[in-house]
Amino acid sequence: MEQAWWKESVVYQIYPRSFNDSNGDGIGDIPGITEKLDYLKNLGVDVIWLSPVYQSPNDDNGYDISDYQAIMKEFGTMHDWEKMLEEIHKRDMKLMMDLVVNHSSDEHQWFQEAKKSKDNPFRDYYIWRSSKDGELPNNWGSMFSGSVWEYDETTQEYYLHLFSRKQPDLNWENPKLRQDVYKMMKWWLDKGVDGFRMDVINFISKVPGLPEAPNPNETKYTDGSRYFINGPHIHEYLHEMNQEVLAGYDVMTVGEMPGVDIEEAKKYTKLKRKELQMVFQFEHMDLDSGPNGKWDLRPFKLKDLKESISKWQKGLHDVGWNSLYLNNHDQPRAVSRFGNDKEYRVESAKMLGTFLHMLQGTPYIYQGEEIGMTNVQFDSIDEYKDIEILNMYKDKVINGAESHEEVMKSIYAKGRDNARTPFQWNDSKHGGFTSGTPWIQVNRNYRSINAEQAIQDDQSIYHYYRQLIKLRKKYPIIVYGDYQLILENHDKIYAYLRNYKNEKLLVITNFSNQHVLFELPESISFEKAEKLISNYDTLESENPRFFTLKPYEARVYKGF
Ligand code: NOJ
Repeated sequence: MEQAWWKESVVYQIYPRSFNDSNGDGIGDIPGITEKLDYLKNLGVDVIWLSPVYQSPNDDNGYDISDYQAIMKEFGTMHDWEKMLEEIHKRDMKLMMDLVVNHSSDEHQWFQEAKKSKDNPFRDYYIWRSSKDGELPNNWGSMFSGSVWEYDETTQEYYLHLFSRKQPDLNWENPKLRQDVYKMMKWWLDKGVDGFRMDVINFISKVPGLPEAPNPNETKYTDGSRYFINGPHIHEYLHEMNQEVLAGYDVMTVGEMPGVDIEEAKKYTKLKRKELQMVFQFEHMDLDSGPNGKWDLRPFKLKDLKESISKWQKGLHDVGWNSLYLNNHDQPRAVSRFGNDKEYRVESAKMLGTFLHMLQGTPYIYQGEEIGMTNVQFDSIDEYKDIEILNMYKDKVINGAESHEEVMKSIYAKGRDNARTPFQWNDSKHGGFTSGTPWIQVNRNYRSINAEQAIQDDQSIYHYYRQLIKLRKKYPIIVYGDYQLILENHDKIYAYLRNYKNEKLLVITNFSNQHVLFELPESISFEKAEKLISNYDTLESENPRFFTLKPYEARVYKGF
C-alpha cells in the first residue's frame, strides 16, 4: 500500500463559532484559535480542519458564504487568519480549510448579479427554472424543510436551493463557474493552506431536467436526492478540479458525501483516478434513524455498526482510503449517542476512541470529543440556534401535527446544536469560552467536564486520546494493517484484528454497561507480545484470549 502523510495524520475539527472567544463578543474567533494551538499540539494532532471562516450572513453559521476570499468580521481579519496559519505551521501542524461550493450565500456578488436579469452574465452561475401555472418546478424537499425552490420576483423564476433559501445551489454545468472556483482554491493554496474538506461535494452534479421524485407517501415535498447524489458529471468535475488545482500541491482532500456507497467511494478515492483522497461516508451515522430520516429515532444496534464499519474497512482496503469519525458539527456527541454519558461517561468515551482510532483510515476528532463533552438539553426551543432544528420545529409543531414533547425528544437526540455548545475550557463562568454572553448557551455540565480538569487528571479522556494518537505514530500496523472482524454475532463486544507484515493487533471493545466474557475463537491464532492500551487497569498475567470485560472496557494487544 502506498504510504502518505495524510494517511498517518490525525485531524482535529474546529467549529470556530464555538471554540474560543478572544474579544468577549460571545462568538469564537480566529485569535481565539491561535491562543489554543499549544493545547492542540499537546494533544498530538497533525491537521486542523477549520469549519468555514469566510464572510457570511450566517444563515447556516458560515456554510452560506458571501465572499470566498474574505474573513467573517466576527471571526477577525485576514491578518488574524495569516497569523494563525503561521503559528500552526510553526508548530508543525497543517490547516485544512472548508470548501463550500455546492452553494453560495444569496448575498454573494455572483447571486446579486444573477438575480438582476435573465441575461446577466452571472445568471448561469445558479440553477433557475420558470414556473408552470404557479406550480413549483419539481417536488423536491430542502434539507432544511420546505421546498428546494424559491421564487424571485424580479425575474419571475425560481432558483434551486438544496439547503436554506439563502444558500442557492451553484451551477457546475457552467465552465465559467468551475474556473472561478478553481481560481479561488488556488488563491488559498498559494496562501499556504494544506488541504480542503469539501462540503456536500457529491451534490454538485444534478440530473438534467431535475425530474419529479417518487412520492409514495404523497407528502408535500419529497426526497429528490437520487437526482443529485453522485450525479452524472460528478467524477468528471472532481477529476477536472484535481488536474487544474489539486495536482499542483501536496495537500489533503476529503469530500463530505452523504449517501455515498462503497462502489462510488472507490471511484472517488482510488488515487489513480485523480479525484480525492478520502470521503466522509454517512452509513454509520444513519444506523439510529428510521425510514423517515434523521428525526425518526431508532435505537442503534451493535450488529449494524459492525456490518457497516466492516464493509467500509474491507471495501476501501488497498483501493482507496477511509476517514474515521463518530461525530462532528452536524452530529450529536459520540459519547451520548454510542456510549453512556452518565455513569460510564469516561469509560465509554475512551472505549469509543479506542474503537475508532485502531481502525484503518484517518481519524477525525471533533472539538470537545477529547474531553468527553456531551449532548445538551435546552428547556425551550428558543435557546436553539440551528436553522435545521428551527425550520423542522416550525414545520412539525407550529404548522404540523406533532407535539412539542415528541419533537424535542428528537432534537435532544439528534439536533446539531448538541455539538455546537461552546467548548468547555474550565469551570469559570460560561466554561471559560467567553467573557461576554455566549451566542449559544454552554452545557450546564461545564463545571465537571472541562479541559483544565482533563489536563490535570492523568486518567482523563484527554490523556487517553493523547496515548491513542501516540500509538498511531509508533505502530505502522495501526495505519496500514488490514482488518478482520471477530465475534461477528456478539451483541455487546466489538472486536477486530489488524494484520500487517508479521504482526497482529487485537482490539477488544465492550459496547455495553455489563460485564461480559471475551473468548477468542480457537481458530484464530494470536500470541500476545504486549498490551498497548486499555481503559481499566489490567493484570500483566492476564491471557488476552479469555477474560471478563468490565462495562465499556477497551483493550488493545499487539502480538503475532
Ligand atoms: C454540510 C455541513 O457540514 C453542514 O453544516 C451544512 O449545513 C450543510 N453541508 C450545508 O452547507
